[in-house]
Amino acid sequence: ENSLLWHFMSVFSLTSPILCLSRYHLFQQHVSSWNNQSLYSVPLDLDVRLRRLDLSNNFIRQLHTLVLPYLEQLDLSSNQLDLISEGAFENLAQLEELNLSRNALNNNLGSNSKALQSISRLRSLDISMNGLSDDAAELYLRNKPSLDQLKMTGNALTRLSHNLFKESKGLRTITIDDNLISVIEQGTFEPLTNLEKLSLAKNNLERICDFKLHQVKYLNLSQNSVEFFITREDDQVYGLETLDLSFNKLLYFPIVPKRNFLRYLHLQNNMIGTLNSEATMVSEANSLYNEITNERIVRKNNLHANWRQMPLIYIDLSYNHFRSFPLETLSLLSSLKTLNFSHNCLDSEIRRQLFFPSLKHLELQSNGLAFISPLFLNALTQIDKLNLQDNSVQPCALMDHLGSSQSAQQLNLNTSCVAFGQLRTLKHLSLKENKIKMLHPNTFQETSLVSLNLARNPHMVMHVGALEGVQETLQSLIISEINMTSSDLSLPCMPALTQLDISNNHLDIIPSSLSCSPLREIDIRNNHFVSLNLSLIHNLSDHLNLMYISGNYFNCCDSKWLRILNESVIKLADIRDAECFTDDSKMMMMMTEYLNSSLVCCTSSEPKLKTRVHWRSLSCSGVKARTLQACHSQRHPPSKHKASNSGML
Ligand SMILES: *[C@@H]1O[C@H](CO)[C@@H](O)[C@H](O)[C@H]1NC(C)=O
Ligand SMILES: *[C@@H]1O[C@H](CO)[C@@H](O)[C@H](O)[C@H]1NC(C)=O
Ligand SMILES: *[C@@H]1O[C@H](CO)[C@@H](O)[C@H](O)[C@H]1NC(C)=O
Ligand SMILES: *[C@@H]1O[C@H](CO)[C@@H](O)[C@H](O)[C@H]1NC(C)=O
Ligand SMILES: *[C@@H]1O[C@H](CO)[C@@H](O)[C@H](O)[C@H]1NC(C)=O
Ligand SMILES: *[C@@H]1O[C@H](CO)[C@@H](O)[C@H](O)[C@H]1NC(C)=O
Ligand SMILES: *[C@@H]1O[C@H](CO)[C@@H](O)[C@H](O)[C@H]1NC(C)=O
Ligand SMILES: *[C@@H]1O[C@H](CO)[C@@H](O)[C@H](O)[C@H]1NC(C)=O
Ligand SMILES: *[C@@H]1O[C@H](CO)[C@@H](O)[C@H](O)[C@H]1NC(C)=O
Ligand SMILES: *[C@@H]1O[C@H](CO)[C@@H](O)[C@H](O)[C@H]1NC(C)=O
Repeated sequence: ENSLLWHFMSVFSLTSPILCLSRYHLFQQHVSSWNNQSLYSVPLDLDVRLRRLDLSNNFIRQLHTLVLPYLEQLDLSSNQLDLISEGAFENLAQLEELNLSRNALNNNLGSNSKALQSISRLRSLDISMNGLSDDAAELYLRNKPSLDQLKMTGNALTRLSHNLFKESKGLRTITIDDNLISVIEQGTFEPLTNLEKLSLAKNNLERICDFKLHQVKYLNLSQNSVEFFITREDDQVYGLETLDLSFNKLLYFPIVPKRNFLRYLHLQNNMIGTLNSEATMVSEANSLYNEITNERIVRKNNLHANWRQMPLIYIDLSYNHFRSFPLETLSLLSSLKTLNFSHNCLDSEIRRQLFFPSLKHLELQSNGLAFISPLFLNALTQIDKLNLQDNSVQPCALMDHLGSSQSAQQLNLNTSCVAFGQLRTLKHLSLKENKIKMLHPNTFQETSLVSLNLARNPHMVMHVGALEGVQETLQSLIISEINMTSSDLSLPCMPALTQLDISNNHLDIIPSSLSCSPLREIDIRNNHFVSLNLSLIHNLSDHLNLMYISGNYFNCCDSKWLRILNESVIKLADIRDAECFTDDSKMMMMMTEYLNSSLVCCTSSEPKLKTRVHWRSLSCSGVKARTLQACHSQRHPPSKHKASNSGML
């Protein structure tokens, strides 16, 4: 891209306007796309000046000599290529990027490998999805001193040998995902001194006994069968910043290099925590280390010694088997900002004061938590976002904790509720699906809540004063699926609220206190609304730009509010699904139909009642027969002329 751009600019700046135009025309020809043209062979009349050629998604099976001395990029991906003539690439002296993915290059190895070995300038090669064996890969990678990026995803490699990259030592990025690799010989990657990014996800690796790639910054071993990851302690500096060991069979935390830059550690979907206690896990990991490294002397706690040095800011431990919180290990991570501990099975108490001095974002979804120790809450001095979805925590009433909040140490360790007021920095809280019974007054007082999700707590009683203390800061509030009627819901004036979801309740009135709020989005789906208060809609329409209204029992004849909304800039995202009913609820119609038809079927409630004449002249055009029937039945008692009156006009 860059060289093309440069070329373009130099042409522009160095030539006269007229010349420039024709050159520009030429320039355009330097890029040629024959993508998806049902070609069975390479077109014959290609411009020799081409720099980029895209022949992907065709049916090309054979490639013969190409004479394109300026060609820099060639894309032959998704063809049926199985034979490349030995000399096919010989006249591509400038070729730097070659995409051969999705072909059948595990054939004709003799000829194909000679062809591939002739392009020594190559910087990027993609030979994914070719059914390549170990031998084929090795042959194809010969004579590639300039190769920087290599992709071999989706082949049939089983073993990476120390010969594989011996002629492509400049590699910086290697992706060999989705193969069958179970063995990596010593010396395979070590000599690649530029290697920064290595991805071996979706293979069959079982153990990492001796990680020693000092140069690598990104290592992805996700979706293997890794049982443990061990680095022998040395004094080298390791560049490792991101390590992905997710979807493996780890029982222990990895033993990382002593001197590292690890910032992102992905350990989700493993079996860590299966062993009954943290102490057992740590001592087993250490004895495994001693066994594997043949350490004679019983050494220090290697696991923890090295974890202490990690500048980790992100760890994902979701979908593991923890039954208790691994305090000793996690509290070593003093830079940790994000901890995902969702989908474990925490049930035990915490009896010691912890410190998470940097933790801002904590995910604890689906842990079966009924209780969170005040000692734990107390450790969250910087917490910004807390997700407690799908647990069973009950927020405390203010009185439960006021008395003792002076000193967390004095807090009763077996309180059965969570005192959110302790979390002064908390901005985002989800308490969705917690079987909350009661939201007491001032529950969130002293926090800095900006968004609060209380959805799906169907038995929750929300005290009038529940949001006291945060009504000034709340910007987003979700109180859907709580089975509330309008008499159960009373909201304070919330001058910062911009998003409100009160869907899936039994509401029929929008609390008028919302006039206080600069609401931009409101969701009132699936409630019992019959109409919306015009004055309120007027007030809201100043700010509102998105509204969901379907699933209610709107009265077609009392829907001036809808015309107001329809004429404003507000987006009624689900207007096509919204229905309304006629006065006597006998007839349902789609609200769009109603809006469109300007048909007035109504008698009393609509202020601009159309006359009978007007009604006739409209003759209900565009409205289905059953609508006519309903229109009529409003004007006459339904019992009288029911089925036979559709022709009354
Ligand atoms: C190729 O073209 C056909 C027909 O023009 C189209 O249906 C198909 O989606 C295209 N495939 C790709 C990969 O672009
Ligand atoms: C090669 O082509 C495939 C399919 O078109 C594409 O997904 C892949 O990203 C390309 N490889 C490189 C290195 O650009
Ligand atoms: C590791 O590879 C897997 C599979 O390709 C991918 O889904 C995941 O996002 C990668 N991890 C990181 C940290 O990039
Ligand atoms: C864990 O939480 C983090 C932060 O929200 C998120 O980025 C990550 O995707 C989560 N992990 C899983 C497996 O959902
Ligand atoms: C807390 O636990 C102690 C001992 O387990 C018990 O005596 C006390 O009654 C408990 N307090 C509450 C409020 O449950
Ligand atoms: C909530 O309301 C829905 C719909 O009326 C009903 O099916 C459900 O049983 C109610 N749930 C509870 C817990 O009351
Ligand atoms: C709309 O709400 C205001 C304020 O609550 C109330 O005074 C007014 O009567 C309501 N209008 C209708 C038509 O219900
Ligand atoms: C709309 O705003 C006006 C002026 O602020 C106020 O008097 C009126 O009560 C509001 N309507 C509703 C329904 O709150
Ligand atoms: C107003 O209603 C008409 C007819 O249903 C619809 O086409 C239009 O998109 C609506 N306008 C808005 C802003 O929703
Ligand atoms: C609204 O009316 C116009 C013209 O009468 C028609 O083309 C359109 O399909 C109607 N829209 C709906 C949603 O009924």
